[in-house]
Amino acid sequence: MKILFLNGPNLNLLGTREPDKYGALTLSDIENRMVKETKNNSVEIAFYQSNIEGELVDAIQKAKGIYDGIVMNPAAYTHTSVAIRDAILAVQIPTVEIHISNIHTREDFRKTSLTAPACIGQITGFEANSYKLGLLAIIDYLKKQ
Ligand code: DQA
Repeated sequence: MKILFLNGPNLNLLGTREPDKYGALTLSDIENRMVKETKNNSVEIAFYQSNIEGELVDAIQKAKGIYDGIVMNPAAYTHTSVAIRDAILAVQIPTVEIHISNIHTREDFRKTSLTAPACIGQITGFEANSYKLGLLAIIDYLKKQ
C-alpha cells in the first residue's frame, strides 16, 4: 500500500509558524513520526510540500497509478482551490483531508473547504496527530476496498 502525504503552503514553516495554532513540531518531525508509524507494516509513504497550487495539482496528477491513497493538508488552498478539488476528482485516488487546527472554530473563511467534498473524509483539530489519524483512516479505508 502506497500513501502520499501532500502539504500545502506555509507548512514548510511548521515549528516556527504561529506555534500557538500549529504547534512546535516541524514538517520533518511529523514526517519522521509517520515513517515510524509505518515501519512495521507494508505501508510505504512519501511526503511532498509545495507553496505553489499548480505544483500540488501536478503532484496529484502524477500520483495516479503510483499511490493508492493520499493524506492531504491543502493549508490555505483548502479554502480557495477549485483546481486541487478537481485534480482529486480527476484521478479518483481516495484522499483524506487533514488539518492541524480545527478549521471550524476559527475565522469564518476557514470554515469552508472547497477540497473536502472531493475527499472521503476530513480530520481537523487534533494538532500533529491529525497526520496519524489521517494515515489510520486511509489505511482502514483502503483495506476495506
Ligand atoms: C491548516 C488550516 C488552514 O486554514 C491554514 O491556512 C493552514 C493550516 C491546518 O492544518 O490547520 O495553513 O490547514
